[in-house]
Amino acid sequence: MAFKQTILCIGAGYVGGPTMSMIAKNCPDTQVIVVDLNEARIKAWQSETLPIYEPGLREVVDEAIGRNLFFSTDVIANIPKADIIFVSVNTPTKTYGQGAGRAADLQYWEAVARTIKEHATSDTIVVEKSTLPVRTAEAIERILHASQNGVHFDVLSNPEFLAEGTAIHDLENPDRVLIGGREDEQGQKAIQTLVDIYAEWVPREKILTTNVWSAELSKLTANAFLAQRISSINAISALCEATEADVDEVAHAIGTDSRIGPKFLRSSVGFGGSCFKKDILNLVYLCEHYGLTEVAAYWEQVVLMNEYQMNRFVDKIVSGLFNTLVNKRIALFGFAFKANTGDTRESPAITVTRRLLEERANVVISDPQAIPEAKHDLADVIDHVEFSEDPYEAAKGAHAVCIMTEWEQFKDLDYQRIYDAMLKPASIFDGRNILDHAALGEIGFNVYPVGKHAIVNG
Ligand code: NAD
Ligand code: UGA
Repeated sequence: MAFKQTILCIGAGYVGGPTMSMIAKNCPDTQVIVVDLNEARIKAWQSETLPIYEPGLREVVDEAIGRNLFFSTDVIANIPKADIIFVSVNTPTKTYGQGAGRAADLQYWEAVARTIKEHATSDTIVVEKSTLPVRTAEAIERILHASQNGVHFDVLSNPEFLAEGTAIHDLENPDRVLIGGREDEQGQKAIQTLVDIYAEWVPREKILTTNVWSAELSKLTANAFLAQRISSINAISALCEATEADVDEVAHAIGTDSRIGPKFLRSSVGFGGSCFKKDILNLVYLCEHYGLTEVAAYWEQVVLMNEYQMNRFVDKIVSGLFNTLVNKRIALFGFAFKANTGDTRESPAITVTRRLLEERANVVISDPQAIPEAKHDLADVIDHVEFSEDPYEAAKGAHAVCIMTEWEQFKDLDYQRIYDAMLKPASIFDGRNILDHAALGEIGFNVYPVGKHAIVNG
């Protein structure tokens, strides 16, 4: 079959894989090729076991793979075929040199831009899918057009707003799709090409078009606002514990104000995930770069509050277990940074595990999806950690159970059975406030939620 156009996506990770599968599903006359240097990842996309766990992803991939969706490790050979190239490579926080610990590391992005420049043979639209600092498109355009070979590139910013665990739903029914491009005629034409792709399944009024800088900055701002809500409610959770107010009651009471809204007000052990911390620190770095010291400090506080919340959770475990954790078995229920994903990047469980090990506790980790990732994250301390897929086994002989991830299955466990198998006094630290605390107290547990009064039986 002759395809209407060809889309290439460079980077087959949590964003590139699902977004391109969704485009391929909804645009059967467009050829979509997803490439990555990571051979194992590409093989997994072509196999029965996809490289990421995401509810509904299998069905979307199955509908398009082999029809108009293809995965390959050959980046170079596929560049000349593409009318549009999405770049969805990782943009982690820089760990070296200027801006270390804050700025985005753009080495992967720049390497890709140079490869595109070298191998493109006709005019191409290049789409920033990765999250990038504002004004990156300008730098990318300069690189692409250096030593002109007659090929013209239009750079668009099309940031992704999907959340892991709900990626397929978010892609199928996005709140909005954002496309930023140049305001000149050529830029507007490029924007229209991308609008036409999304308009195959997204209502036109939900496709927003802006200038490039607004699109780039909107992505960082959206993540900063979302994380800020969590840090705000977590700050209040500390005050609730000091005053016997209940954070869920407070969240409900304020969330019914239509100006505030109910979402993203779940108090927790802290936010994790590959992007919130990285993107806020990137925003902080940008503000510092432009001399906006107060603005930088304002946003940095969101990250500092998150660290405070994680540390507060561990402090509560230490004091709840009589100020020593030495040789005490502590079961962590959940290691993923949120439910319905196997992703553990920046998971609060990593910070909590490491601090518990510093206190010389024996940590045992149970998670329905994330044990392979957890083993990878804890490789340097693996001899001191146990893993068990079965939460009942993990809790056997433990002094405490800590709920780290809000997996549904943890709500439905037989907590009487867990209590009977634990050492006494048996404690539960509910870092996600998902359990029935009164019922646990009835069984005999000492219960320590977040932002609510503790129940202490013994
Ligand atoms: P990821 O690490 O899962 O995937 C990135 C992929 O790019 C990797 O597989 C890597 O091998 C590949 N890659 C790197 N350099 C390459 C090169 N030169 N050629 C070919 N492949 C190369 O990252 P991700 O989670 O998919 O995130 C990608 C971007 O999207 C980041 O900027 C992130 O901030 C942003 N984002 C992520 C999410 C999310 O939920 N994970 C959501 C929105 C935006
Ligand atoms: C987040 C944003 O929600 C996406 O819009 C964005 O595209 C993405 O970051 C990104 O840029 O990578 P994600 O990190 O996948 O998505 O998941 P979220 O649902 O936002 O959860 C992030 C963290 O906050 C999790 O650890 C979650 O448990 C925690 N959280 C969330 C809370 O503690 N309380 C809440 O009320 C909500």
